Amino acid sequence: MSLLRIIYTSRPFGFDTATLNSILVHARQANARDDITGALICREDIYMQLLEGPEPAVRSAVARIMHDDRHLEVKIHVERPVSERMFAQWAMLHDPATSWIWSRADVTNDAIQDATPQEVEAFFTKLRDEQARP
Ligand SMILES: Cc1cc2nc3c(=O)[nH]c(=O)nc-3n(C[C@H](O)[C@H](O)[C@H](O)COP(=O)(O)O)c2cc1C
Repeated sequence: MSLLRIIYTSRPFGFDTATLNSILVHARQANARDDITGALICREDIYMQLLEGPEPAVRSAVARIMHDDRHLEVKIHVERPVSERMFAQWAMLHDPATSWIWSRADVTNDAIQDATPQEVEAFFTKLRDEQARP
């Protein structure tokens, strides 16, 4: 079956540890059930999430996520078939967005609107490579 990759960004609404934990617990359960893997980069000013899996499962997860009121301004940057998963071992890897993504000032200044799909994918390539380091 063909694999679909979707990457979106959004603006957290009501971001705190409890909210994030509850998102991650649910996401990991649902994704394990649906054969979805991926990573969620999160900071109080941005969510950036990569989801990969069978196309119908990924589309329906993203449809649910888009209607979630714990974030706003969901924007899809990448939506393409892929031959391999980037985070095959992760129902949902969580990364507290570190300094290597956009700065807070960049986020405020609309880096998100101007981002190319390649730029957004590159954040996840870097995260995967960091993850793979011993
Ligand atoms: C930032 C963010 C990331 C999420 N990631 C996932 C995910 O990877 N998989 C998933 O099934 N739900 C995820 N959710 C939760 C969904 O939005 C939704 O609450 C959940 O799928 C339950 O939907 P249901 O009540 O219709 O079953 C995420 C929500 C947010 C706000």
